[in-house]
Amino acid sequence: MADPAAQLPRHIGIIMDGNGRWARRRGLPRSAGHRAGIQAIRRVMEAADAAGVHCLTLYAFSTENWSRPRREVATLMRLFEQTLKAEVDELNRNGVRIRVIGRRAQLSERLQRLVAEAERTTAENRSGVLNVAINYGGRAEIVDGVRRLAEEGRDLTQLEEADLAGALYTAGLPDPDLIIRTAGELRTSNFLIWQAAYAELHVTQTLWPDFGAEDLRLALLDYASRDRRFGGVLDLS
Ligand code: IPE
Ligand code: IPE
Ligand code: MG
Repeated sequence: MADPAAQLPRHIGIIMDGNGRWARRRGLPRSAGHRAGIQAIRRVMEAADAAGVHCLTLYAFSTENWSRPRREVATLMRLFEQTLKAEVDELNRNGVRIRVIGRRAQLSERLQRLVAEAERTTAENRSGVLNVAINYGGRAEIVDGVRRLAEEGRDLTQLEEADLAGALYTAGLPDPDLIIRTAGELRTSNFLIWQAAYAELHVTQTLWPDFGAEDLRLALLDYASRDRRFGGVLDLS
């Protein structure tokens, strides 16, 4: 019989897409969609925790998102600061370790300080992991990993997959078992492109600000119904 624990993803990555469309449908500015998206994060973190999912990685801002209008970028950055400030204490009480993954040197000094503080405060927590991907790109992450190994003086001609995996922002975490993308687009948009090599993909038409516990339940059900083969043959025993 299938092991029920194996049917629950240990790590879920979420591409939180559709804030702009959510706002447009209501005749609201895109910023209203981003604010509503923050509420969805709260709901989903709670639902994931209740379901027993240990590790979540949320795609909040890509290396390509800088190409958006300056005002929208500023709104998003302000929301990240406010949310980080507002949520750290409760996440800490719940034993969640917060990590921000991405190229943080390009973030404002204030946001970098908040990130460093949140990571320091929650560093010893073991009940769960929340990765927030800000100024994150999968390609940039791989480049950064290789640079780091080169800086450490490692012989890159002998590089193994495990070496590079250990130099990524997600070092030490299990690879995501499930990637959820909201708002219907069938692409990864540069999210966890190394780690998601064998992740199951669940795409929903639901726009991110509308995503809630029931959508997560459906995603988990979908995941539990998959036959993960990792390149092998289907086990019919
Ligand atoms: C996702 O929503 C939020 C970010 C990428 C920061 P979008 O802003 O991409 O929403 P759509 O895709 O325009 O609907
Ligand atoms: C992906 O959404 C990035 C995040 C959710 C942060 P985008 O809206 O940026 O992706 P594309 O442009 O549709 O591929
Ligand atoms: Mg989008």
